[in-house]
Amino acid sequence: MICGVLRCGPGFSWALSGWLGLPVLISALAGEPLEPDRVATMIEALTRLGPEKVNANPKLNEALEKVLEATKGTPQFVELVRDFNVKDQDATLLELAIKNPNNSTGVEATRLILANRNFQLLTTSLAGTNAIKVAEALGNTGENGIVPLLEPMVADMKRDVALRKQAVRALAQAQEGAAALLKLAKEEKLPQDMKLMAGSELNNVRWAKIKTEAAQLLPLPRGQNSGPVPPISELVKMKGDAAKGAVIYRRDTVGCIKCHQVNGEGVDFGPNLSEIGTKLGKDALYEAILDPSAGVSFGYEAWQIELKNGDEAYGLIVSDTADEIAVKTQGGIVARYKKSDIAKREQQKLSIMPAGLQQTMSTQDLADLVEYLSSLKTAGK
Ligand code: HEC
Repeated sequence: MICGVLRCGPGFSWALSGWLGLPVLISALAGEPLEPDRVATMIEALTRLGPEKVNANPKLNEALEKVLEATKGTPQFVELVRDFNVKDQDATLLELAIKNPNNSTGVEATRLILANRNFQLLTTSLAGTNAIKVAEALGNTGENGIVPLLEPMVADMKRDVALRKQAVRALAQAQEGAAALLKLAKEEKLPQDMKLMAGSELNNVRWAKIKTEAAQLLPLPRGQNSGPVPPISELVKMKGDAAKGAVIYRRDTVGCIKCHQVNGEGVDFGPNLSEIGTKLGKDALYEAILDPSAGVSFGYEAWQIELKNGDEAYGLIVSDTADEIAVKTQGGIVARYKKSDIAKREQQKLSIMPAGLQQTMSTQDLADLVEYLSSLKTAGK
């Protein structure tokens, strides 16, 4: 940047942005339509000026609106709405959330609607045809603000059962939501048709107290493998079937695919396993599954971030700049937090990969699974 070369101070940079920014923006207002490189220049100029200046000046506001119109529906649109504190784009944000309920753009859009406290819009959309998508996006924010929106649906028998299940799944993603589900169960207000869903979600949450109580109140159906698993030295001698293992790997109850990618399939969250058979021997593969916290891969450490407003985030820190950190949560969704909004962050001792996954399968299944992983090798090796 020009500023970096000249080593200018903040005062100079203000002057410069005025010089570069205003004429560019005002001349851009005259022409139609906006070409992509024009849009990029305008965004840069607006960003240099900063939200305060832009929001105080009607001409600049007009320029911002043009840029929003030109970027509508893109990740950039969501960034602009957030960075310039735009308050009247909730309907467009909602469209984005419905299209992308489980990627970073859609979830960030949902967060912005929540931050605007536009509960009216959310309530209406939760009664419409896209309700399931909206509930899914709300859950992926992990924010406690979703609880009043979703909790009333859980026991409302007039609602579609698939939507109620999605509401349960979403609630379990926020601490206060998980606590609310547990309370419903305790007070025997949790409908029968939601018990299995609530049980399987609450038995997997990261809040130890809720998890323990859920195990008593809503126990999971007995696993196939409640007995002890043989020692690794025995396991490595077992013969496995890689083709069966591939099926187990994709099983919903086992869940590897919800956190790992193999050749482009699955969620990009934990390490890519496309060549794991080259990297780890069978003994190390067993250890990675039976005791994930024994050796957490570098860069995949778990962090707990507490926000000043009481919300929290849990995941991998994927970027850390002077004023922001980006956290990747379990679904592979990236959320950015201003450092000024963070009360505390703490690295966790335990891996994000849950222990006890072997309990979802038989010992033979486990051997098949490891046979499969071990077959995932670099071509030609
Ligand atoms: C909730 C997300 C999650 C689930 C579910 C999960 N993993 Fe992981 N896994 C991770 C993360 C995060 C790491 C990296 C941290 C660590 O090493 O513990 C990891 C690490 C690993 C490693 C070591 C990778 C390396 O490069 O060293 C293997 C192997 C592995 N997982 C296999 C599995 C298998 C098999 C399953 C299903 C039985 C599974 N994982 C389920 C998140 C998950």
